[in-house]
Amino acid sequence: MCGIVGYIGEKNAVDILIDGLTKLEYRGYDSAGVAVVVDNNIKTERSAGKLINLKNKLEQSPLISNIGIGHTRWATHGKPSDENAHPHCSDHIALVHNGIIENYLELRDELINKGYKFLSETDTEAIAHLLHSLWEDNLEKTVRKAVQRLKGAYALAIISSREEGKILLARKEAPLVIGVGKNENFAASDIPAILHHTREFIFLEDGDIAIMEKDRLEIYDLNFNKVSRSVKTINWNPVMAEKAGYKHFMQKEIYEQPRAITDTIRGKYSLEDGKIYLSELEEMKGDLLSIERIQIVACGTSWHAGLVGKFLIEKFAKIPVEVDIASEYRYREPIVDEKLLFIPISQSGETADTLAALKLAKSKGAKIISICNVIGSSITRESHGTIYTHAGPEIGVASTKAFTTQLATLYMLAIYLSQLKDRLTKEERIKYVKALIKVPEEISSVLDLDHDIEMLAKNFKNYKNFLYLGRNINYPVALEGALKLKEISYIHAEGYPAGEMKHGPIALIDKNMPVLFLAINSPIYEKTLSNIEEVKARDGVVIAVASKSNNGISKKADYTIFVNDTIEETSIFLTTVVTQFFAYHCATLLGLDVDQPRNLAKSVTVE
Ligand code: F6R
Repeated sequence: MCGIVGYIGEKNAVDILIDGLTKLEYRGYDSAGVAVVVDNNIKTERSAGKLINLKNKLEQSPLISNIGIGHTRWATHGKPSDENAHPHCSDHIALVHNGIIENYLELRDELINKGYKFLSETDTEAIAHLLHSLWEDNLEKTVRKAVQRLKGAYALAIISSREEGKILLARKEAPLVIGVGKNENFAASDIPAILHHTREFIFLEDGDIAIMEKDRLEIYDLNFNKVSRSVKTINWNPVMAEKAGYKHFMQKEIYEQPRAITDTIRGKYSLEDGKIYLSELEEMKGDLLSIERIQIVACGTSWHAGLVGKFLIEKFAKIPVEVDIASEYRYREPIVDEKLLFIPISQSGETADTLAALKLAKSKGAKIISICNVIGSSITRESHGTIYTHAGPEIGVASTKAFTTQLATLYMLAIYLSQLKDRLTKEERIKYVKALIKVPEEISSVLDLDHDIEMLAKNFKNYKNFLYLGRNINYPVALEGALKLKEISYIHAEGYPAGEMKHGPIALIDKNMPVLFLAINSPIYEKTLSNIEEVKARDGVVIAVASKSNNGISKKADYTIFVNDTIEETSIFLTTVVTQFFAYHCATLLGLDVDQPRNLAKSVTVE
């Protein structure tokens, strides 16, 4: 998705903008640009394609200024081109925009009638001309008037050559943060863009308009009342947001999982009584006691985590759980009342569909506890409570450590709810907590299989189709494994519950259709073995991910990756990491860009 960076201070803005935009590349984009004020004039440089094109242009004709805005665009209205790239200008005004203006056609017609000429196909250019047409004394008055005409979502950074010392910021349903510095201030759509410069952040709220000068910040709310927004310190180390010696962010993030899970569960459990302590939900305890049903809603990988969550919550806390895809949920008529606990799961906290589903459930009286990785993101702000995953910044587009930390969080939440409802014995809780705290070490043992899995990928990278099969709690892992393979290696893959195979997918089995079985030790392990026999009987090629104690499986499968024996409920962490490595190696062996796969964006902030 699009990225925004803004700078005002004493340094050269363009260097800071380009550096920030580079840090946002992971969000996905197809053009980029910057605008600065030089000698009372707006100067812009824009280019379709990767940032290197923009950098080359800036090397040819450098821009020097202490104030500027920059943007990476992911096309929605109009194809990727120099003309459609942001910033968009109207005479003395330049702006960058994330989001979608729903009434832009109406605004465009109105502005064309007033004599404005449109040079792009974007909705954003309409905002630039609208600001120009409404200009009144100064930028803040003009922005106030203009935002009242906008329908839809926006994060805006605006400059005017008539007011060289300020950047105006405005947000509605699209993320925008201010990075607070000394004699300088920064703006960005995403923290990693400016984390090198400051750890102090202000998260703008919906409807906020901020006036950002180098040594002054003023924020006004929806009703134009001056407000103070707290400054939050972000403890992410900038190195955490870089590759730290790994070839790809995805590889680094796979390897970070033991640390990420340790951070996520730290201080939240007691081995003595097997209890989980979620202090962030303390104030909601009363509400949670009366909960009768749960709906988990999310998109993509986070939805897969939700499916695992259903298994865990129903098993540990015996509360019925429905799991829904956010883009479906928001457009049907879900049954919601005040006895419902609604759990949105989102790495970014900005996914438009998940946010809209949350708002819908909230408006109907549900209690909201989000599971999220990004502090202060829109989803957390709309929630009654949030349990943060402590994955740290996830840069690779394909989610890895965010997923496993979501699993760890759901596992803890399931035990926590079981405590409230008194559904597990102390001994059972101790068993599950013990298994959870072993997870980082168990994942480390799978990291040792990296090379073996790379060798396996060498044999399979040229296949065109794959089936991933699992049962019970490993069925969502099969879905997630198939998604990882699809999104980064472009190999078609489908995930199924293994027992579903004979209801259709078995027709696909032949020597060209490898099947990856998550054949972990469980009460229904034997049934998975029968499924493997069925595939072998039809000349299918079988890869099994199996528990070490079931070593006989290697006689049935063509290839076997053995992981440590664990309880079934924590086996998902190990099987997940095997499938992450498998997808990663298939893609890198095919020479593909695993961190920025085609057509995908890290944070899907539009529908
Ligand atoms: C796949 C992936 C996506 C995201 C989905 C939701 O690897 O990352 O499927 O899981 O776009 O994003 P969040 O979790 O940020 O709401």
